[in-house]
Amino acid sequence: MKNLFLQTFGCQMNQYDSERIARVMGRMGYAVTDCVENADLILLNTCSVRDKAEQKVYSALGRLKEIKEQRAGVIIGVGGCVAQQEGEALLKRVPHLDLVFGTHNIHKLPEIVEQVQTLENRPVETAFYRDPSYMEDPEGTTEVQGSKAFVTIMQGCNKVCSFCIVPHVRGREVSRPSEKILREVKALADRGVVEVMLLGQNVNSYGKMTPGELSFAELLGRVNAIDGIERIRFTTSHPQDLSPDLIEVFAELDKLCQHLHLPVQSGSDGVLARMRRGYTRADYLDRIERLRARRPEVALSTDIIVGFPGETDDEFGATLELLEQVGYDEIYSFTYSPRPQTVSAKLYDDDIPDDTKRDRLSRVQSLQREISLRKNRERIGGIEEILVEGRSKLKNGQIMGRTRSNRIVNLFGPESLTGALVAARITGATATSLIGELAQAVTASDLHPEGESA
Ligand code: SAH
Ligand code: F3S
Repeated sequence: MKNLFLQTFGCQMNQYDSERIARVMGRMGYAVTDCVENADLILLNTCSVRDKAEQKVYSALGRLKEIKEQRAGVIIGVGGCVAQQEGEALLKRVPHLDLVFGTHNIHKLPEIVEQVQTLENRPVETAFYRDPSYMEDPEGTTEVQGSKAFVTIMQGCNKVCSFCIVPHVRGREVSRPSEKILREVKALADRGVVEVMLLGQNVNSYGKMTPGELSFAELLGRVNAIDGIERIRFTTSHPQDLSPDLIEVFAELDKLCQHLHLPVQSGSDGVLARMRRGYTRADYLDRIERLRARRPEVALSTDIIVGFPGETDDEFGATLELLEQVGYDEIYSFTYSPRPQTVSAKLYDDDIPDDTKRDRLSRVQSLQREISLRKNRERIGGIEEILVEGRSKLKNGQIMGRTRSNRIVNLFGPESLTGALVAARITGATATSLIGELAQAVTASDLHPEGESA
């Protein structure tokens, strides 16, 4: 048995891809290790969505130089979005690197590693495929740990957001055949998975490019019918594509969790136009209103970019106002960084000074902390269904789980509850999580199907 050290950067899509990497290399006799010193093969699955993410990859590669010097036999490879973006150039920049594989080339990894071993060359595989079979694993999902799992349903993106590198590094939209997805979800349910997160850059475009394929709303309906699956989530949905049928599905499907991540990026129409997002602030608010009319308890989260080129104080102010107006439960916020090949990097100077960007970021974050705290406090006194994920990050002997609205709950209870759906009484709140206790008298199935506050 050989050892594989696998480091994942970035999004959930990359986490799913890393699980696939572990599986395909497992079949070649590699076992995943936590210890880089013991590794025969070191693979970095990388992210280039923002400059900071990309810099992390180069620092990690820098640290690996010493390992390569000590043990020449170790193979070091880079996959994912930085690999796709840089290709051959990565090999030049990093002399101790042995191989590069792009976002569509995980199925080729065994061949690529073998090439390094037998031919002693430095292969680069970054071809894009239009046929979705490159996303399939012939032997299917073999190992899952825990009761939550990711399932990629599509890759790539056909949108043209001016700041975004994703279409360049993940390619055009390609959807997996629905029967493969449903087979995978059934197999996961058979192994005890109760919650699935369906992944794609823009899941609401699922199937649109494939004649005869299910729509995303129909796919959700089929997943909802699979026995054993209790909770369904998905990410991400582009606001422009939040269609009436998807809104309807939120009202109809009992297993679809009441949480939607709907990235808005900015509250200013001027910035949204420069970002080429394809909607106005009013369009966005209208969709949220329709969704809340059909599923009032839905929790909302979003992504915000501050310091986009030309962002004035007023335009930034519009974003702060929008946060108040929508009342998000959670946000992910970033300072703008120009990315290679993107339209915004070509058209506009990155003209907002770093300290202004940082100041705007901290204003967004402190406003959101107030809003999140307010919203979390509203949950106190209620009983919520949580899926226990294991020991709490607080390291205070507590366990943690997530509500259907995606809030973290920390509470005292046996670790043996990991993987179980239990009822928690909410006794306190912070801006980032809830505090609870096991509600002994009730089981999850006694709860209102929505897991709403009593
Ligand atoms: N649809 C995708 C979006 C991927 S990028 C998804 O599945 O989530 C994730 C987030 O990173 C974006 O929503 C945006 O807020 C942020 N982001 C992307 N490019 C960026 C850039 N050049 N600078 C700063 N933030 C960026
Ligand atoms: Fe990026 Fe916009 Fe697609 S943010 S992933 S181009 S929807």
